[in-house]
Amino acid sequence: MKKLGTFFLKATKGLAIKEVVSINGQIDSKAAISVFDRGFLYGDSVYEVTLTYNKIPFLLDEHLDRLYRSARSIHMEFSFSREELIKDINNVIEKLEGDRQYIRVIVTRGAGEINLDPSAATKNNLVIIGRNLPEYPISWYEKGVSMIITDILRNSKRSMDPGVKSGNYLNNVLAMAEAKEKKAFDAIMLNYKGNITEGTTSNIWIVEGSRFVTPPLDAGLLGGITRKTLLLIASKNNLSVSEENISPERLKAADECFLTSSTKEIVPIISVDDCPIGTGTPGPHTKSLHKIYKKFVQESLKK
Ligand SMILES: Cc1ncc(COP(=O)(O)O)c(C=O)c1O
Repeated sequence: MKKLGTFFLKATKGLAIKEVVSINGQIDSKAAISVFDRGFLYGDSVYEVTLTYNKIPFLLDEHLDRLYRSARSIHMEFSFSREELIKDINNVIEKLEGDRQYIRVIVTRGAGEINLDPSAATKNNLVIIGRNLPEYPISWYEKGVSMIITDILRNSKRSMDPGVKSGNYLNNVLAMAEAKEKKAFDAIMLNYKGNITEGTTSNIWIVEGSRFVTPPLDAGLLGGITRKTLLLIASKNNLSVSEENISPERLKAADECFLTSSTKEIVPIISVDDCPIGTGTPGPHTKSLHKIYKKFVQESLKK
Protein backbone atom coordinates (compact mmCIF):
# COMPACT_ATOMS: atom_id res chain seq x y z
CA MET A 1 0.00 0.00 0.00
CA LYS A 2 2.80 2.37 0.94
CA LYS A 3 4.47 1.78 -2.42
CA LEU A 4 1.25 2.43 -4.33
CA GLY A 5 0.72 5.65 -2.41
CA THR A 6 4.20 6.86 -3.29
CA PHE A 7 3.69 5.93 -6.93
CA PHE A 8 0.46 7.87 -7.01
CA LEU A 9 2.09 10.98 -5.62
CA LYS A 10 4.97 10.81 -8.07
CA ALA A 11 3.01 9.90 -11.14
CA THR A 12 0.39 12.58 -10.70
CA LYS A 13 3.08 15.26 -11.28
CA GLY A 14 1.44 18.02 -9.33
CA LEU A 15 -2.12 16.95 -10.13
CA ALA A 16 -3.97 16.76 -6.83
CA ILE A 17 -4.85 13.21 -5.89
CA LYS A 18 -8.56 13.23 -6.12
CA GLU A 19 -11.01 10.58 -5.21
CA VAL A 20 -14.76 10.84 -5.40
CA VAL A 21 -17.07 8.34 -3.74
CA SER A 22 -20.78 8.16 -4.39
CA ILE A 23 -22.96 6.13 -2.04
CA ASN A 24 -26.51 5.57 -3.24
CA GLY A 25 -26.20 8.67 -5.39
CA GLN A 26 -24.86 10.86 -2.59
CA ILE A 27 -21.43 12.40 -3.05
CA ASP A 28 -20.96 13.55 0.45
CA SER A 29 -18.30 12.90 3.08
CA LYS A 30 -21.07 12.00 5.51
CA ALA A 31 -22.47 9.22 3.29
CA ALA A 32 -21.68 5.82 4.80
CA ILE A 33 -22.44 2.12 4.60
CA SER A 34 -23.73 0.10 7.53
CA VAL A 35 -21.43 -2.47 9.15
CA PHE A 36 -24.41 -4.82 8.71
CA ASP A 37 -24.06 -4.58 4.93
CA ARG A 38 -23.71 -8.06 3.45
CA GLY A 39 -20.96 -6.92 1.10
CA PHE A 40 -18.88 -6.20 4.21
CA LEU A 41 -20.05 -9.25 6.18
CA TYR A 42 -19.97 -11.91 3.46
CA GLY A 43 -18.60 -10.41 0.24
CA ASP A 44 -22.23 -10.56 -0.93
CA SER A 45 -21.72 -8.05 -3.73
CA VAL A 46 -20.89 -7.65 -7.40
CA TYR A 47 -18.63 -5.06 -8.97
CA GLU A 48 -17.08 -3.67 -12.11
CA VAL A 49 -13.99 -1.64 -12.90
CA THR A 50 -13.49 0.45 -15.97
CA LEU A 51 -11.10 3.12 -17.11
CA THR A 52 -12.01 6.44 -18.66
CA TYR A 53 -10.18 7.78 -21.69
CA ASN A 54 -10.75 11.54 -22.10
CA LYS A 55 -13.33 11.25 -19.31
CA ILE A 56 -15.34 8.66 -21.27
CA PRO A 57 -15.80 5.31 -19.47
CA PHE A 58 -14.51 2.73 -21.95
CA LEU A 59 -17.01 0.06 -23.06
CA LEU A 60 -19.37 1.07 -20.25
CA ASP A 61 -22.26 -0.89 -21.77
CA GLU A 62 -20.18 -4.08 -21.80
CA HIS A 63 -19.20 -3.54 -18.16
CA LEU A 64 -22.78 -2.84 -17.09
CA ASP A 65 -24.01 -5.90 -19.00
CA ARG A 66 -21.47 -7.99 -17.07
CA LEU A 67 -22.53 -6.35 -13.78
CA TYR A 68 -26.15 -7.33 -14.45
CA ARG A 69 -25.07 -10.85 -15.49
CA SER A 70 -23.04 -11.22 -12.29
CA ALA A 71 -26.01 -10.04 -10.22
CA ARG A 72 -28.37 -12.47 -11.98
CA SER A 73 -25.96 -15.34 -11.30
CA ILE A 74 -26.15 -14.71 -7.56
CA HIS A 75 -29.91 -13.96 -7.66
CA MET A 76 -29.42 -10.34 -6.72
CA GLU A 77 -31.94 -7.77 -7.91
CA PHE A 78 -31.12 -4.08 -8.23
CA SER A 79 -33.36 -1.48 -6.59
CA PHE A 80 -32.25 1.18 -9.11
CA SER A 81 -32.52 1.47 -12.86
CA ARG A 82 -29.65 1.24 -15.35
CA GLU A 83 -30.29 4.91 -16.21
CA GLU A 84 -29.92 5.93 -12.55
CA LEU A 85 -26.71 3.92 -12.33
CA ILE A 86 -25.25 5.62 -15.41
CA LYS A 87 -26.27 9.03 -14.05
CA ASP A 88 -24.41 8.32 -10.77
CA ILE A 89 -21.31 7.14 -12.66
CA ASN A 90 -21.32 10.29 -14.79
CA ASN A 91 -21.70 12.48 -11.69
CA VAL A 92 -18.54 10.91 -10.23
CA ILE A 93 -16.62 11.34 -13.48
CA GLU A 94 -17.65 15.00 -13.75
CA LYS A 95 -16.40 15.76 -10.24
CA LEU A 96 -12.99 14.19 -10.86
CA GLU A 97 -9.99 16.00 -12.28
CA GLY A 98 -7.96 14.48 -15.09
CA ASP A 99 -8.95 12.51 -18.18
CA ARG A 100 -7.79 9.09 -17.04
CA GLN A 101 -9.90 7.82 -14.21
CA TYR A 102 -10.41 4.52 -12.43
CA ILE A 103 -14.13 3.84 -11.95
CA ARG A 104 -15.27 1.08 -9.62
CA VAL A 105 -18.97 0.28 -9.30
CA ILE A 106 -19.94 -1.93 -6.35
CA VAL A 107 -23.46 -3.16 -5.67
CA THR A 108 -24.08 -5.04 -2.44
CA ARG A 109 -27.17 -7.01 -1.54
CA GLY A 110 -27.65 -4.51 1.28
CA ALA A 111 -27.82 -4.54 5.06
CA GLY A 112 -30.02 -6.70 7.28
CA GLU A 113 -30.07 -9.15 10.14
CA ILE A 114 -26.80 -11.06 10.57
CA ASN A 115 -27.71 -14.30 8.89
CA LEU A 116 -26.80 -15.86 5.56
CA ASP A 117 -30.34 -15.89 4.15
CA PRO A 118 -30.25 -13.43 1.21
CA SER A 119 -33.85 -12.42 1.93
CA ALA A 120 -32.56 -10.80 5.15
CA ALA A 121 -31.18 -7.97 2.99
CA THR A 122 -33.32 -4.86 2.74
CA LYS A 123 -32.13 -2.73 -0.19
CA ASN A 124 -28.96 -2.69 -2.35
CA ASN A 125 -26.17 -0.32 -1.58
CA LEU A 126 -24.59 1.23 -4.66
CA VAL A 127 -21.07 2.56 -4.25
CA ILE A 128 -19.07 4.22 -7.01
CA ILE A 129 -15.42 4.98 -6.41
CA GLY A 130 -13.69 7.24 -8.89
CA ARG A 131 -10.08 8.30 -8.72
CA ASN A 132 -7.45 9.77 -10.96
CA LEU A 133 -5.41 6.96 -12.41
CA PRO A 134 -1.90 8.02 -13.39
CA GLU A 135 -0.28 6.17 -16.26
CA TYR A 136 1.17 2.88 -15.04
CA PRO A 137 4.98 2.59 -14.99
CA ILE A 138 6.31 2.47 -18.54
CA SER A 139 8.68 -0.34 -17.49
CA TRP A 140 5.71 -2.75 -17.26
CA TYR A 141 5.17 -2.31 -20.99
CA GLU A 142 8.76 -1.84 -22.19
CA LYS A 143 10.53 -4.39 -19.99
CA GLY A 144 7.66 -6.72 -19.09
CA VAL A 145 6.81 -8.30 -15.74
CA SER A 146 7.54 -11.56 -13.92
CA MET A 147 4.79 -13.81 -12.63
CA ILE A 148 4.50 -16.95 -10.52
CA ILE A 149 2.07 -19.83 -10.77
CA THR A 150 0.45 -20.02 -7.37
CA ASP A 151 -0.68 -23.09 -5.41
CA ILE A 152 -3.97 -21.32 -4.64
CA LEU A 153 -6.57 -22.65 -7.07
CA ARG A 154 -9.19 -20.58 -8.85
CA ASN A 155 -12.61 -21.80 -7.75
CA SER A 156 -14.46 -24.48 -9.66
CA LYS A 157 -17.43 -23.10 -11.63
CA ARG A 158 -19.60 -25.16 -9.25
CA SER A 159 -18.32 -23.16 -6.31
CA MET A 160 -18.35 -19.35 -6.47
CA ASP A 161 -18.15 -19.20 -10.27
CA PRO A 162 -15.07 -17.19 -11.29
CA GLY A 163 -17.16 -15.92 -14.22
CA VAL A 164 -19.11 -13.83 -11.71
CA LYS A 165 -17.35 -10.61 -10.75
CA SER A 166 -18.26 -10.76 -7.09
CA GLY A 167 -16.79 -9.29 -3.91
CA ASN A 168 -15.28 -12.70 -3.04
CA TYR A 169 -11.61 -12.23 -3.89
CA LEU A 170 -9.90 -13.89 -0.95
CA ASN A 171 -8.33 -16.69 -3.07
CA ASN A 172 -6.94 -14.00 -5.37
CA VAL A 173 -5.76 -11.92 -2.41
CA LEU A 174 -3.82 -14.94 -1.10
CA ALA A 175 -2.41 -15.61 -4.56
CA MET A 176 -1.25 -12.00 -4.84
CA ALA A 177 0.29 -12.23 -1.35
CA GLU A 178 2.30 -15.27 -2.50
CA ALA A 179 3.43 -13.34 -5.60
CA LYS A 180 4.57 -10.39 -3.52
CA GLU A 181 6.40 -12.69 -1.11
CA LYS A 182 8.28 -14.10 -4.11
CA LYS A 183 8.92 -10.59 -5.49
CA ALA A 184 6.77 -11.25 -8.55
CA PHE A 185 4.39 -8.79 -10.20
CA ASP A 186 1.37 -11.06 -9.81
CA ALA A 187 0.24 -14.68 -9.76
CA ILE A 188 -1.33 -16.96 -12.34
CA MET A 189 -4.00 -19.29 -10.95
CA LEU A 190 -4.75 -22.86 -12.07
CA ASN A 191 -8.04 -24.75 -11.97
CA TYR A 192 -8.51 -28.10 -10.21
CA LYS A 193 -7.47 -29.87 -13.44
CA GLY A 194 -4.11 -28.11 -13.32
CA ASN A 195 -4.75 -25.83 -16.31
CA ILE A 196 -4.17 -22.09 -16.45
CA THR A 197 -7.21 -19.96 -15.66
CA GLU A 198 -6.13 -16.32 -15.24
CA GLY A 199 -4.15 -13.80 -13.22
CA THR A 200 -5.56 -12.46 -9.94
CA THR A 201 -7.12 -9.49 -11.76
CA SER A 202 -6.30 -10.15 -15.40
CA ASN A 203 -6.65 -12.67 -18.20
CA ILE A 204 -3.66 -14.61 -19.50
CA TRP A 205 -2.56 -15.16 -23.09
CA ILE A 206 0.30 -16.94 -24.83
CA VAL A 207 1.71 -16.60 -28.33
CA GLU A 208 2.92 -19.72 -30.17
CA GLY A 209 4.59 -18.77 -33.43
CA SER A 210 2.18 -16.06 -34.54
CA ARG A 211 -0.88 -17.66 -32.91
CA PHE A 212 -2.58 -16.03 -29.93
CA VAL A 213 -4.07 -18.46 -27.40
CA THR A 214 -6.07 -17.79 -24.23
CA PRO A 215 -7.86 -20.31 -21.95
CA PRO A 216 -11.57 -20.89 -22.66
CA LEU A 217 -14.25 -19.58 -20.26
CA ASP A 218 -14.89 -23.22 -19.36
CA ALA A 219 -11.51 -23.36 -17.63
CA GLY A 220 -13.18 -21.23 -14.91
CA LEU A 221 -12.23 -17.59 -15.29
CA LEU A 222 -13.70 -14.14 -15.61
CA GLY A 223 -14.79 -13.29 -19.13
CA GLY A 224 -12.67 -10.15 -19.28
CA ILE A 225 -13.96 -7.29 -21.42
CA THR A 226 -10.41 -6.73 -22.71
CA ARG A 227 -10.13 -10.47 -23.48
CA LYS A 228 -13.40 -10.37 -25.44
CA THR A 229 -12.37 -7.20 -27.28
CA LEU A 230 -9.01 -8.70 -28.21
CA LEU A 231 -10.58 -11.93 -29.48
CA LEU A 232 -12.74 -9.78 -31.72
CA ILE A 233 -10.18 -7.31 -33.00
CA ALA A 234 -7.50 -9.98 -33.46
CA SER A 235 -9.82 -11.88 -35.82
CA LYS A 236 -10.79 -8.65 -37.60
CA ASN A 237 -7.09 -7.98 -38.17
CA ASN A 238 -6.63 -11.49 -39.61
CA LEU A 239 -4.54 -12.66 -36.68
CA SER A 240 -4.76 -16.29 -35.68
CA VAL A 241 -6.48 -16.52 -32.30
CA SER A 242 -7.88 -19.42 -30.34
CA GLU A 243 -9.34 -20.38 -26.94
CA GLU A 244 -7.61 -23.55 -25.69
CA ASN A 245 -6.68 -25.14 -22.41
CA ILE A 246 -3.12 -24.25 -21.47
CA SER A 247 -1.01 -26.33 -19.09
CA PRO A 248 1.76 -24.65 -17.07
CA GLU A 249 4.33 -26.54 -19.21
CA ARG A 250 2.77 -25.22 -22.41
CA LEU A 251 2.73 -21.69 -21.02
CA LYS A 252 6.40 -21.87 -20.05
CA ALA A 253 7.34 -23.18 -23.51
CA ALA A 254 5.41 -20.38 -25.31
CA ASP A 255 7.16 -17.77 -27.43
CA GLU A 256 5.40 -14.90 -25.71
CA CYS A 257 2.99 -14.38 -22.86
CA PHE A 258 0.97 -11.40 -21.65
CA LEU A 259 -1.86 -10.37 -19.36
CA THR A 260 -4.86 -8.20 -20.13
CA SER A 261 -7.25 -6.03 -18.14
CA SER A 262 -9.30 -2.88 -18.63
CA THR A 263 -6.96 -0.68 -16.62
CA LYS A 264 -3.63 -2.30 -17.58
CA GLU A 265 -4.52 -3.08 -21.22
CA ILE A 266 -1.75 -5.48 -22.36
CA VAL A 267 1.30 -6.15 -20.16
CA PRO A 268 4.04 -8.48 -21.46
CA ILE A 269 5.02 -11.34 -19.13
CA ILE A 270 8.70 -12.15 -19.54
CA SER A 271 9.10 -14.91 -16.96
CA VAL A 272 6.97 -17.34 -14.97
CA ASP A 273 8.37 -19.06 -11.85
CA ASP A 274 11.78 -17.64 -12.87
CA CYS A 275 11.54 -19.47 -16.22
CA PRO A 276 12.06 -16.99 -19.11
CA ILE A 277 9.26 -16.94 -21.67
CA GLY A 278 10.69 -16.98 -25.20
CA THR A 279 13.63 -14.57 -25.28
CA GLY A 280 12.76 -13.25 -21.81
CA THR A 281 11.81 -9.86 -23.29
CA PRO A 282 8.47 -8.42 -24.47
CA GLY A 283 7.66 -10.15 -27.76
CA PRO A 284 6.85 -8.52 -31.13
CA HIS A 285 3.37 -10.06 -31.38
CA THR A 286 2.42 -8.80 -27.93
CA LYS A 287 3.61 -5.31 -28.83
CA SER A 288 1.81 -5.24 -32.16
CA LEU A 289 -1.45 -6.49 -30.57
CA HIS A 290 -1.17 -3.70 -28.01
CA LYS A 291 -0.81 -1.16 -30.83
CA ILE A 292 -3.93 -2.57 -32.50
CA TYR A 293 -5.79 -2.38 -29.16
CA LYS A 294 -4.75 1.25 -28.60
CA LYS A 295 -5.90 2.13 -32.11
CA PHE A 296 -9.24 0.44 -31.42
CA VAL A 297 -9.62 2.47 -28.20
CA GLN A 298 -8.94 5.73 -30.06
CA GLU A 299 -11.37 4.84 -32.85
CA SER A 300 -14.08 3.85 -30.34
CA LEU A 301 -13.75 7.22 -28.62
CA LYS A 302 -14.51 9.05 -31.88
CA LYS A 303 -17.86 7.27 -32.26
C1 LIG B 1 -10.21 -12.16 -11.94
C2 LIG B 1 -10.13 -11.21 -13.10
N1 LIG B 1 -9.87 -11.71 -14.32
C3 LIG B 1 -9.78 -10.90 -15.40
C4 LIG B 1 -9.93 -9.53 -15.28
C5 LIG B 1 -9.83 -8.65 -16.50
O1 LIG B 1 -11.11 -8.24 -16.89
P1 LIG B 1 -11.36 -6.92 -17.73
O2 LIG B 1 -10.63 -7.09 -19.02
O3 LIG B 1 -12.83 -6.89 -17.92
O4 LIG B 1 -10.84 -5.77 -16.94
C6 LIG B 1 -10.21 -8.98 -14.03
C7 LIG B 1 -10.40 -7.54 -13.89
O5 LIG B 1 -10.46 -7.01 -12.83
C8 LIG B 1 -10.32 -9.85 -12.91
O6 LIG B 1 -10.59 -9.37 -11.69
